[in-house]
Amino acid sequence: MKILVTGGAGFIGSNFIHYLFKKHSDYEIINLDSLTYCGNLENLKTIEDNPNYEFIKGDICDSGLVDQVVKDVDAIVHFAAESHVDRSILNATPFVRTNVLGTTNLLDAAQKHKKRFHYISTDEVFGSLGSQGYFKENSHYDPHSPYSASKAAGDHLVRAYFHTHRLPITITNCSNNYGPYQFPEKLIPLFVTNLLEKKKVPLYGEGLNVRDWLYVEDHCQAIDLVLHQGKIGETYCVGGNEEKTNLEITHKILEILGLGTEMIERVPDRKGHDQRYAIDASKIKKELGWEPEHKFEEALLKTVKWYQNNEEWWQRIKNKEYLNYYQKQYQEKK
Ligand code: NAD
Ligand code: DAU
Repeated sequence: MKILVTGGAGFIGSNFIHYLFKKHSDYEIINLDSLTYCGNLENLKTIEDNPNYEFIKGDICDSGLVDQVVKDVDAIVHFAAESHVDRSILNATPFVRTNVLGTTNLLDAAQKHKKRFHYISTDEVFGSLGSQGYFKENSHYDPHSPYSASKAAGDHLVRAYFHTHRLPITITNCSNNYGPYQFPEKLIPLFVTNLLEKKKVPLYGEGLNVRDWLYVEDHCQAIDLVLHQGKIGETYCVGGNEEKTNLEITHKILEILGLGTEMIERVPDRKGHDQRYAIDASKIKKELGWEPEHKFEEALLKTVKWYQNNEEWWQRIKNKEYLNYYQKQYQEKK
């Protein structure tokens, strides 16, 4: 099988490519990625010489290129996106461009060449929960940030191509991933790497917002299952059943690193900050037999160790000017 992975140089995409090669060593994989600020080919160093792997530097908004690449594959697994909520608060335009127009471009090529299409989406499209309840496949859409609105547009477009053109699609909506190769702007890698540098960690508001945490390898396994066995036209919600407040996460990381709460810096809250996300993953469990294999405590420990052992990887990223510029802009705007 020949698979086009878009955004394969990012966090989940690169983990997925590693996962696919381990699980299906005979598969051919094309990675189409424009290498934005968070695309990093170092994530794929160990497989770059694999004859079954090809990297193409390119933009999913480039319709000529996308058409050429899609023509030769059996299936598309679409990760490429602008993925960080805080950045979408500062400037929504790149989110609409890649997440909406780029996705439409891929759908057009998939439709023209009649290819299987799997779209990686997020639980954020469903909005925010109170203290009770879970997001399910039939939860109503209520995205709150420019990021989640652009991802929701993607979900609707993917479904529209199924209903209108009978394009063989599936969608997964998953919760917060963590693990190796995550860009250090997101909560866990930002806090771990700050603390490794003996810098304080910027906790938004009271730190009481809740996220469900899913180890990235468990997510990759779910995508692989849906790609091969999922019912065409259907959506599957994927979550780790590991709800934690941001404060709890922060305390756990501090404990692992033997540091105290004086390393927490309370900063103004994110604008429009969603209170709680939680997923009912019973459909994928029941229909496809998926179960998350990693428990939060041990997988967080493993993740922290990965950042401890791969300091060169994140130091190179963290020292780049754009990250400092972005962090400064965001703090100023708040
Ligand atoms: P990421 O930001 O780490 O990686 C995104 C990748 O897409 C990068 O390699 C980037 O270079 C590439 N890219 C961006 N714009 C592109 C374009 N126009 N053309 C080609 N490549 C482009 O993101 P991630 O955290 O790995 O997320 C991957 C997908 O999973 C996204 O669609 C995101 O919405 C979804 N998702 C992420 C999470 C999470 O917790 N990280 C949870 C749910 C869903
Ligand atoms: O739920 C899935 C989503 O998870 C994905 O769709 C997104 O691509 C991904 O970025 C992630 O979004 P979040 O906004 O939940 O992740 P983030 O790591 O940015 O923030 C997690 C929580 O931590 C959130 O409540 C905000 C808080 N936070 C985050 C940062 C970066 C802080 O308190 N301080 C911070 O510096």
